[in-house]
Amino acid sequence: LADGPLAGRKIVVTSGPTHEPIDPVRYIANRSSGAQGTAIARALVALGAEVVFVTGPADVAPPEGVVLKRVETANDMRKAVMEALPADAAIFAAAVADWRVSNAADSKMKKTKTGLPALEFAENPDILADVSKDKARPALVVGFAAETDDVIENATAKRKRKGCDWIVANDVSPKTGIMGGSENAVTIIDENGADNWPRMGKDQVARKLAERISEALQGKQK
Ligand code: C5P
Repeated sequence: LADGPLAGRKIVVTSGPTHEPIDPVRYIANRSSGAQGTAIARALVALGAEVVFVTGPADVAPPEGVVLKRVETANDMRKAVMEALPADAAIFAAAVADWRVSNAADSKMKKTKTGLPALEFAENPDILADVSKDKARPALVVGFAAETDDVIENATAKRKRKGCDWIVANDVSPKTGIMGGSENAVTIIDENGADNWPRMGKDQVARKLAERISEALQGKQK
């Protein structure tokens, strides 16, 4: 059996992008390597947690020692997350596509001389918001906010809107080089305000976050 401060705790982690099909060979997606979510899952496993890792098609290999759920679309991701509840905590590091193509084609769309295809969109479910208000809500729900401007202000509003406990906010404006890079500079927003962490490796952010999660779950009923 696992050892460590998170032994006996079940934690759901979402990671990577989602792919929303246009036709069998094309999709729309968000940019996400899955690096930060994977590092967080690994750090939680290292502290003894049972991690259900729900991942879209990521660039990086999934971590060892997790219950792995591979998904493609936001709807699939939502289903896998809901099936994984109840859990002690849920960490939403995935970059979920906000929209899916509602008129996706069943066979490959052909180039024609008659014109360009017109895509129609439907809104995807907000998994973080749904879980935050679910009757099986985990004791700790953590969301992420990738912002390019007014990071703290936007992330604080997002925390309220989504109903989660913490938001891990980061500045992803191109000048930071964070997107796709190995470092991250995050601010943790909780009910007490904003906690600025210095710029550090994504693995180190993951370890510090896992420790903070472990502390927050102490004293909460298993
Ligand atoms: O609203 P925004 O996409 O900026 O929120 C980001 C946070 O919400 C992330 O934690 C992300 O994983 C989560 N999210 C989600 N389902 C969506 C959109 C975002 O779980 N459809």
